[in-house]
Amino acid sequence: MRLDKFISYALNLTRKEATSLIKSGRIKIDGNVIKSGDTKVLGKVYLDDQEIIYKEYRYFMLNKPKGYLSTTSGEKSVLELVSGVKDLKVCGRLDIDTTGLIILTNDGDFIHKVTSPKSDIYKTYYVEVDGEFINSHVESFKNGFDLIDTDKEIYHTKEAKLEILSTSSANISICEGRFHQIKKMCHEVGCVVTNLKRIKIGSLTLDESLKEGEYKELKKEELDKIFVK
Ligand code: URA
Repeated sequence: MRLDKFISYALNLTRKEATSLIKSGRIKIDGNVIKSGDTKVLGKVYLDDQEIIYKEYRYFMLNKPKGYLSTTSGEKSVLELVSGVKDLKVCGRLDIDTTGLIILTNDGDFIHKVTSPKSDIYKTYYVEVDGEFINSHVESFKNGFDLIDTDKEIYHTKEAKLEILSTSSANISICEGRFHQIKKMCHEVGCVVTNLKRIKIGSLTLDESLKEGEYKELKKEELDKIFVK
């Protein structure tokens, strides 16, 4: 990678800002001051003798607050909540009024791997409802429901897990991500969702020390948990 691109990505600067930083003589590669942006980075890069660590791909766990959209652009996107990283995208979708675990990353292949319908990764939601969950609903969620998708086609939901916590609260796990799926499934058993929070993707659990709107960078071992059933 060229030095100007490296500096721009690693320090979240525009290419122009990176070029002027390089020209200032504050950047070294392996002890040598380098002033030209087109130099290939083949060694360790330093700014004022402090090594610049650059990771191509970065992954963040965000505790999404209500009122934010899971879109990549436009107003009130969850991306506004994470600063200093270029080209971040949202991995999957949560409704505007849903809170909880969402992953942001600049790794497009990872997003595809997690969100592809073939991935069969279970996502777990904590739900509170107006209405009552009863034991027979466990079987209903397991067997699935015929729901209408955004394109007005009927689809049958894959096996879902309902864990009743109280008459009006439960954990529900689904391995798909159709529009309003949890809300629609609850509606099928006469319950209206009043509170919805995603708490788990695969075996990766929302870090409860994160307040709504807060995020943390994920380590490789944490990311791997997503693919553990
Ligand atoms: N199901 C829903 O109904 N809403 C979400 O945000 C996620 C799953």
